[in-house]
Amino acid sequence: MSQSSNSYKSFQKCIGTECGARYDLNERLYVCRQCNSLLEIDNDFAGLPNSKTLRETWKNRRASNDAMDRSGVWRFRELLPFESTAPVVSIVEGNTPLYEAPRTATYCGLNQLRLKHQGMNPTGSFKDTGMTVAVTQAAILKARTVICASTGNTSASLAAYAARANLACMIVVPEGQVSSAKLAQSLDYGATVLEIEGNFDVAMRLVQELAEDESIYLLNSINPFRIEGQKTVAAELMEQVDWLVPDHVVVPGGNLGNSSALGKGFRELRELGLIDRVPRISVVQAEGAAPFADYFAQQHNREFINVSNPRTLATAIKIGAPVSWQKAWRAVSDSNGRVIKVNEAEIADAKAIIGREGIGCEPASATTVAGIKNLVASGEIRADETVVAVLTGHLLKDPDYVAKYHDGTLLSDAVGQYMNKPIRVAANLNAVMEAINRQPA
Ligand code: F0G
Repeated sequence: MSQSSNSYKSFQKCIGTECGARYDLNERLYVCRQCNSLLEIDNDFAGLPNSKTLRETWKNRRASNDAMDRSGVWRFRELLPFESTAPVVSIVEGNTPLYEAPRTATYCGLNQLRLKHQGMNPTGSFKDTGMTVAVTQAAILKARTVICASTGNTSASLAAYAARANLACMIVVPEGQVSSAKLAQSLDYGATVLEIEGNFDVAMRLVQELAEDESIYLLNSINPFRIEGQKTVAAELMEQVDWLVPDHVVVPGGNLGNSSALGKGFRELRELGLIDRVPRISVVQAEGAAPFADYFAQQHNREFINVSNPRTLATAIKIGAPVSWQKAWRAVSDSNGRVIKVNEAEIADAKAIIGREGIGCEPASATTVAGIKNLVASGEIRADETVVAVLTGHLLKDPDYVAKYHDGTLLSDAVGQYMNKPIRVAANLNAVMEAINRQPA
């Protein structure tokens, strides 16, 4: 965050290698006017304190009660393209825990595994870290209406931040394909919920067209300010591991904004001398919605092929045409990461084993653990390497999935290894005691 407007030189830049067009930060754009590629923020870091001072400043802010310092995103404001006078819209996001997960590590074949739980954000998903920044930009642009397409989490997050900022909020979701818990959040935060007969990709195309109208500001991760907020998790994570770079960071992949953001976050931390290398960033997709994994598997065939009818029970990542694949590709290829896909039974069991750890996440998040298990088995990750899985959403985001897993009705062709059915018992002491005694010690 710049302290003086004269020295402020951050701008929006086209990611197209042959284009590289530049635009002012406050031009309301989502793609390059010249070549239609995505835009990213090129941050002016000249004049920032050295890495030691930055680390100390960020650490000291943890003891502060200032609203900006209490946010786990704005605490790292030196990394963000805003004037110090920006009208920040925050719900005290970020500051999410990093958990040791020994049982899950054993499940994956690792000596140690840590889980960065982004589901512990105010609306229960990682989207809040991006939304605080992008809705702040909406306020700067004096937008009246904000809009997004969503599989449920982006919309819950946008609805909350829009409510805080007093902006009208429209969300477009695929009818019948969003968990009721997520939908309930958007309704409660007062958003107008438009359910369309079509999947997320159709909704995404629609909102992009709608956002051509100047009065509507688009808050999907195609918006480069979302990526700016989400990248700060790299700094928060590094602080939590005392700046010792893990060997691997593994994330789920849907629209591919999150992997793009992590890539940018680690790249900038290295530019600033805060770390000396970046972790390998790997992305895991659900088998029926895995265009990025397919692209990775066939690198000789440079064409990116969308999946026209994406399918997965992990509805958050039921996406066939990810808008940010080029940015995510950079994150993966620059860090020598991998992109793989996992099946529904693998996702469901991985989610349950994380649950056994006392840590709840939603199905999409568990692709990471399922993917890590496969990457260890194939020798891509060694047992003694340091690995962080990013959990993107909270368990309570999709309770129906959890209930079905535990009563054995989730999958038609497999029963969960960690199924835990409720037991019906007569309402008397003997029956309850008998049921307790039947349980394995
Ligand atoms: N995990 C969860 C819980 C998500 O909600 C999403 C995306 C992802 C992973 C994938 O992240 O898109 O950045 O690759 N959810 C979006 C939504 C699409 O509308 O809530 P990504």
